[in-house]
Amino acid sequence: MSPVLEMNGIVKRFPGVLANDHVDLRVEKGEVHALLGENGAGKSTLMNVLYGMYEADEGDIRFKDQEVHVKGPGDAIALGIGMVHQHFMLVPALTVVENVILGMKDNGRVLDLKAAAEKITALAERYTMKIEPFTLVGQMSVGQQQRLEILKALYRGAELLILDEPTAVLTPQEVKGLFNMIGAFTSEGRTVIFISHKLKEVMAISDRVTVLRSGKVAHTLHTSDTDPKELARLMVGREIDLSCEKFSCADNREVLRMERVCAENEKGMAILKELNLTIREGEILGVAGVDGNGQDELAEVLTGLRRVTSGTITMNEKDITNASCRHILNQGVSHIPADRQLRGMIGDMNVVENLLLMRYHDRPFAKPFHLDWKRIEHRAETLVKEFQVKTPGIKVPMATLSGGNQQKVVLGREIERNPKLLVAMHPVRGLDIGATEYIHKRIIEQRDRGCAILLISTELEEILELSDRIVVMYEGEIMGSVDCSCVTIEQLGLMMAGHRWEEVAGEKSEG
Ligand SMILES: Nc1ncnc2c1ncn2[C@@H]1O[C@H](COP(=O)(O)OP(=O)(O)O)[C@@H](O)[C@H]1O
Ligand SMILES: [Mg+2]
Repeated sequence: MSPVLEMNGIVKRFPGVLANDHVDLRVEKGEVHALLGENGAGKSTLMNVLYGMYEADEGDIRFKDQEVHVKGPGDAIALGIGMVHQHFMLVPALTVVENVILGMKDNGRVLDLKAAAEKITALAERYTMKIEPFTLVGQMSVGQQQRLEILKALYRGAELLILDEPTAVLTPQEVKGLFNMIGAFTSEGRTVIFISHKLKEVMAISDRVTVLRSGKVAHTLHTSDTDPKELARLMVGREIDLSCEKFSCADNREVLRMERVCAENEKGMAILKELNLTIREGEILGVAGVDGNGQDELAEVLTGLRRVTSGTITMNEKDITNASCRHILNQGVSHIPADRQLRGMIGDMNVVENLLLMRYHDRPFAKPFHLDWKRIEHRAETLVKEFQVKTPGIKVPMATLSGGNQQKVVLGREIERNPKLLVAMHPVRGLDIGATEYIHKRIIEQRDRGCAILLISTELEEILELSDRIVVMYEGEIMGSVDCSCVTIEQLGLMMAGHRWEEVAGEKSEG
């Protein structure tokens, strides 16, 4: 049987970048075909070529045994190809049904919204999705908006559905819903191309997987014949160590204790509500939760950037509640902020200067009336080498470094102080697997040295991989504090949606 889709020798160049380098892709009818690769590997570009958003410089495309020339999304849709982009393309001021029929050619003279709404509801049911046709899109959650994007493609008769990194914005429960929808869709003999850089979900959902690396196909294989380790190696081009040893810290000395900590936002609304938590020496406490549930404020009260309105924070038995940033820093607290470009570094300053931030008061760099630049530069050279920062030199502006290398500079500066507590917020957000592995290793090294670590992340995989214990935050409260080894991903997902541990503790995996 010939494949439903064949892309042959696709080349796509952007100024200075070869995004797709003679890519061959074969997709069988009725399969879930994963397109796996790191950020920048060329996945979206390849699919945008298929969907008619870009024109390929070389290569040809066959769909259902015909050579096709897709000049724009209209052509793709007419062929039965639908795509849900990483960034949605919906109109917030319109309803679900208006968004679905927007821009369709055969709407007839009079828009029959009622008939369209019925068709949408029927489609949604058929694919195990829930949607309310007359809701305004602007009032819908991200997960609901994604369902709408999918429905829009299905409404237009998609037989091949391209999903570009669809799980990035979903909770584990919503991911499950999406996977059910994909199952229902492919059981009808239709086909899905599933773009992802996450190994576990590719293993869970796909029949076959094509790995892209630097614009080229590294391999296409049956998912059942491979494992995450091999896929990681294909993605990165070298061996990757995904494991992290864990130890019990129950008897270790307590480093940080927060008791009934409350804080308010700028409008005077409670944003942290009676927070209790402790971290011990050599322990990684993971803080899970959907973005915006008080995680930023938690990091801020710990680093002196926000006042608490009540409650106490103690570090090594010293009260640091509402102490100044500098005082907290001097107690041995290091901070990897969520937004490295905003708070972690100064883009216009060079690497040396960035490494000096927060140290310019200290000996031996500060001498009476001047800074010892020779010593400072020597230290910068050493740190750049030690933290494997790829940069043409230590005097280039930070802004010219790649994200991964900027983060290595920030991490190097924060770790060099041998902190007693490290507050790490989204430490690998936006970084590729290579840099992620490196940063995680250095964080684990700190743990093994005895540092207490607060790891805040919206990526459950990262939290589960590194943490010894996990707390889940929801609307400024902690839903539960659990040992990493006795909690399931479903339970974490439920807590992220506002259920307390006591409610979900009995819940076993829903299978
Ligand atoms: N419109 C564009 N203009 C210039 N460069 C682009 C454009 N789109 C993508 N690129 C570049 O092409 C490469 C592949 O990008 P992309 O296909 O988005 O990767 P992926 O989806 O795998 O993360 C990257 O180096 C990216 O910077
Ligand atoms: Mg992409």
